[in-house]
Amino acid sequence: MKDDDTDIQDMPPRILIVDDERHMRELISRVVKTEGYTCTMASNGMEARELLAAIPFDLLICDITMPIMGGMELLNEIKSVSSDLAVIMVTAVDDRQTAMKTLELGAYGYVIKPFLRNELVINIANALRRRELEISQRHYQTELEQQVAERTHELQLSQQETIHRLAKAAEFRDNETARHTIRVGLYTQLLARQAGEEETTIRLIRDAAPLHDIGKIGISDTILLKPGKLTNAEFSTMQEHAELGYRILADSTSPLLVMGAVIALSHHEKFDGTGYPGGLSGEQIPKPGRITAICDVFDAITSKRAYKEKSSVAKALDYLREQRGRHFDPLLVDHFLNCIDDILVVKAENTDTDENHVAD
Ligand SMILES: [Fe+2]
Ligand SMILES: [Fe+2]
Repeated sequence: MKDDDTDIQDMPPRILIVDDERHMRELISRVVKTEGYTCTMASNGMEARELLAAIPFDLLICDITMPIMGGMELLNEIKSVSSDLAVIMVTAVDDRQTAMKTLELGAYGYVIKPFLRNELVINIANALRRRELEISQRHYQTELEQQVAERTHELQLSQQETIHRLAKAAEFRDNETARHTIRVGLYTQLLARQAGEEETTIRLIRDAAPLHDIGKIGISDTILLKPGKLTNAEFSTMQEHAELGYRILADSTSPLLVMGAVIALSHHEKFDGTGYPGGLSGEQIPKPGRITAICDVFDAITSKRAYKEKSSVAKALDYLREQRGRHFDPLLVDHFLNCIDDILVVKAENTDTDENHVAD
């Protein structure tokens, strides 16, 4: 913006005069030069169009009735190409409708021949001032939009970091492998995309899915870190982590935390209605929860945990197929299998160095 201000102050505005009458071109040119502007002349619209394509003019002073290419046609064409060119129409046609039409087409002024010298000078000054203001306004708008985009990006990054650290807090309690939550997030992104979700929803699911077990923060160590099998009572306490997670994240104004709450509450529901905490079935289970369930179980099976060695991908996929329509949404299982190559790339890029986990 500064550069443009300097340009405007340092260089005299460049004006193009288009009129088929030579004496009129010269008359306007004398006025323009006396006012300190630089000017170029053309005798019809076609000539003017070529000059405009080659030289960056600030203002066009244009006759309406001309042979070859008239002023209206020229105005129509240039306004759809360059919004930085101010235009004043100068014509003998004293016709209100024509005047209105040129203003609608984007002209800044309308001068009727014969005109007083001052009338033309004032019109030129006004048009150039308006052009300058509009350019400044546009630059300001662009800068503002850039700033908003930068702040939004910063905010997204800081939200992602908060989520990541919250997820880590749950991992520390659980001794769960550090990369489990990251992998689950990335798998959900691939699966949600394969399932045709909107890009905004995909990002929300990816960023919120790592919080699926955040509720384990509220489960006691004796249960969470118990090396052996849990008793029935202990298991039902463990199951509370779904609702606890929901309570930690719910009622937020942040769409990301709201998504986290939905996933925390629904990631242990099963498609056939035998899951917890709600015993929901089919599409009663929010889709992000159904997506996370598949990714979470796939990662649990293919990762080493304290109580088990890791199983092969083939075994995990067999399990998903076997549970298709039982534990898992059948269509989502199909989508998962269809994007398994990408899933395996993510898995390979995010392997654990040390893996420990306690059963839930
Ligand atoms: Fe869980
Ligand atoms: Fe998990």
